[in-house]
Amino acid sequence: MAVAGLLAASPTSSAMPDRPAAADVSDGTLAAPDIPLSNVKAHLTQFQSIATANGGNRAHGRTGYKASLDYVKAKLDAAGFTTTVQQFTYSGSTGYNLIADWPGGDPNQVLMAGAHLDSVSSGAGINDNGSGSAAVLETALAVSRAQLQPTKHLRFAWWGAEELGLVGSRYYVNNLPSTDRARVSGYINLDMVGSPNPGYFVYDDDPAIEKVFKDWYAGIGVPTEIETEGDGRSDHASFKNVGIPVGGLFTGASRTKTSAQAAKWGGTSGHAFDRCYHSSCDTTTNINDTALDRNSDALAHAIWTLGTAEPLPPGESYENTTDVAIPDNAAAVTSALTVSGRTGNAPAALRVGVDIKHTWRGDLVVDLLAPDGTAYRLKNSSSSDSADNVITTYTVDASSETANGTWRLRVQDVAAQDTGYIDSWKLTF
Ligand code: TRP
Ligand code: ZN
Ligand code: CA
Repeated sequence: MAVAGLLAASPTSSAMPDRPAAADVSDGTLAAPDIPLSNVKAHLTQFQSIATANGGNRAHGRTGYKASLDYVKAKLDAAGFTTTVQQFTYSGSTGYNLIADWPGGDPNQVLMAGAHLDSVSSGAGINDNGSGSAAVLETALAVSRAQLQPTKHLRFAWWGAEELGLVGSRYYVNNLPSTDRARVSGYINLDMVGSPNPGYFVYDDDPAIEKVFKDWYAGIGVPTEIETEGDGRSDHASFKNVGIPVGGLFTGASRTKTSAQAAKWGGTSGHAFDRCYHSSCDTTTNINDTALDRNSDALAHAIWTLGTAEPLPPGESYENTTDVAIPDNAAAVTSALTVSGRTGNAPAALRVGVDIKHTWRGDLVVDLLAPDGTAYRLKNSSSSDSADNVITTYTVDASSETANGTWRLRVQDVAAQDTGYIDSWKLTF
């Protein structure tokens, strides 16, 4: 198969002129600000006070949960976010998710970051997961302070009832209409990012998200490891289960730090990353400031890098010029095209150039097959259309399809006598 992919020029455009002045990174994205650790810690102090005033926890169905949510929501509302509180019921109690949309960006490319806001009932849950909740909140507030104009639409989320089995995030994903689901290009999860004896773990899921975190850590000279303490044990699993690309950061729970890990990260080998995991001692003293600071900055870096990337320029074509014979009045044949190196979904006006040589084109039924197999009818058969050849360009709304993958042109000849072949076809993104 001859695939003449006109190679993707890396984005060359600099910051859009109406963006606030910010250092441009060589890849065309904007540089993230430093997230002030003191701000992140101030949120943890508030979560601790809320727990103390509400029976010592911030668990699902308890007053400390809703008070935590009200605190986060007020900060976001004041910063210009559009907030939504989503209610659900679980084990006889009302639960709440908080969703905060930053106005602007491409509604078909939604970048999400989230954290569970509930604690277990045995403690205040300051590392698990005040830490992730505060890091996501302070990153969102930094977006507002920068008045960032991202290319992607940014959405931040705080989940209820994670500790009871990822309940809130699953409720959100299950109730997201499929068209909105298809628009979510990535979900970044922070659950436990300030463990007192920290490791630096990056989720090994979506390669683009993983790379942005690994690059950030490489830049400060801190080694990372792949997160293995229970894949699927936090809210990213709700997104991953429906095919949304996910990533995230983690500093360890009840697993023990090895001597090799202590040698490269410091801390105490033979002790848990978080000896207060799910315990009453998960308070504001159960936080490693360096880990919390690094992971907050890493999240901001990921949001800025992934959220301000310019889309690939339109007009790139991928072509297959290998002839495929179309048997007379027989089963369909296909010709494949592999598209790679793009991000997100195909365009709403994907152009499909078709060059089929045939002596009675009314015999032909032609479909475009997306990488997941979804068929888009380009042409029906017609016994009265006796003209030769199908040489034309169709426009397909392929915005619900992932761009990368193997696309196929499917052609079937449904009437006897005349025959032909696929001469070439191409996709223009
Ligand atoms: N909230 C998770 C839990 O209580 C903590 C956790 C354990 C975790 N292992 C993880 C979070 C791995 C992210 C990745 O089970
Ligand atoms: Zn947790
Ligand atoms: Ca025929």
